[in-house]
Amino acid sequence: MSKRAHWGSRFAFLLAAAGSAVGLGNIWKFPYITGVNGGGAFVLIYLLCVALVGVPVLVAELYIGQKSQKNAVEAFSVLDPPRSPWRISGLLGVLSAFLILSFYSVIGGWVIDFLFQSLMGKISSLPEEALKGLLGGLFSAPLWQILWHTVFMGLTVGIVFMGVNEGLERWSKILMPSLFVLLFILLVYCWKLEGFPKAVDFLFSTRADKLTFSGILEAMGHAFFTLSLGMGAMITYGSYLGQRENLVRISFLLALLDTLVALVAGLVIFSITFTFNMEPAAGPGLIFSTLPVLFSKMSAGGVLAVAFFLLVLFAALTSSVSILEVCVAYWSETHGLNRKKATILTAGAIYLLGFLTVFSTNRLSNFKILGLTFFDLFDKLTSSYLLPIGGFITILFMGWKLGHQSVKDLFPSSSLMQKATLFLFRFITPAVMVILIYHFAT
Ligand code: TRP
Repeated sequence: MSKRAHWGSRFAFLLAAAGSAVGLGNIWKFPYITGVNGGGAFVLIYLLCVALVGVPVLVAELYIGQKSQKNAVEAFSVLDPPRSPWRISGLLGVLSAFLILSFYSVIGGWVIDFLFQSLMGKISSLPEEALKGLLGGLFSAPLWQILWHTVFMGLTVGIVFMGVNEGLERWSKILMPSLFVLLFILLVYCWKLEGFPKAVDFLFSTRADKLTFSGILEAMGHAFFTLSLGMGAMITYGSYLGQRENLVRISFLLALLDTLVALVAGLVIFSITFTFNMEPAAGPGLIFSTLPVLFSKMSAGGVLAVAFFLLVLFAALTSSVSILEVCVAYWSETHGLNRKKATILTAGAIYLLGFLTVFSTNRLSNFKILGLTFFDLFDKLTSSYLLPIGGFITILFMGWKLGHQSVKDLFPSSSLMQKATLFLFRFITPAVMVILIYHFAT
């Protein structure tokens, strides 16, 4: 058997896992879907799902990866003898990775466009109305979107080539904390805006008037999306972990950090919407129409805009590599393709699929399947269905197939914790998922 690569240190692993979790999901997607679903009640369900579903599934994925030392598909066959039916979860994961990265890269491209616009000084010089319309301009320019999508995919492939734990680690150490600091600066600034109390109320009061069944699925799905769960990304990252680690503590830490970033981003975005009379339910363009307005009002806003979009781009890249890595590890380990070839081929196919998302904002904006554009379809299909299904299978595998052994490994010295955790894996987490769906479907 060939020797597998491992993380250089525990810290390197933590950085990479945090890098995978914190990304466009926190800064772009969380505010936008919260706006569409009417705020408070949606946020509450999302938080509930992070705690009772997300954290246990995260522990399970890391454990399965570390224990098996295999990619997302093979992991199941190693822990449960060959041709295990549980592999289906891994295979669904590879499919999800394909679909998610195809639109993730296009949104990453939008971030690059805004970085470019800030570098050209547009953000600090244009009037408010023009700033709100910047994204509309990009929507009607498919060639620009394709250019930036190409750059984003190129960067992702470049990083995966370099090996996930080399260059990335050095940069993550500086850039990830910088993003947190900058977000915090924006929050302090927004504190003084007149829309801030409304933003707090919008996010944390539990009005449920706009919440629908599909909103519930979206809240649960987002708990998976934002923690990079349900498609084997964390299995793959866990498989590069050598010695025993305290996976439970790591998982709590990751979930806490990830949630904090999302909530701060939400507070900032909604402070802007309520201060400048913008629409909270504006959809996927929300952060791109609101943030430039904020930067244009701040002193040194032009510089902050450049820094912000650069840091968001970096956060997006540390996530996109983890998505691509799921496919690459699968094709190279299970089908014996060499790593470079696997990377180029998968990335190429995903890149082409991304064109459908680009055209969803212009030429094909009226072409709908089940009432959804290609972009919305890929997004809904993965977040609301494929990821939760993958996660559900994972937690059942953990609780019922690995069972006692898994909790003994997690808590070697406390039989009480073993029992409680096994109960959580077997009953609570699956039940929360089923009850939420059942309760709101009827
Ligand atoms: N969690 C990342 C974000 O919030 C996106 C992501 C990375 C992801 N890897 C994943 C989502 C695996 C689902 C599955 O931006």
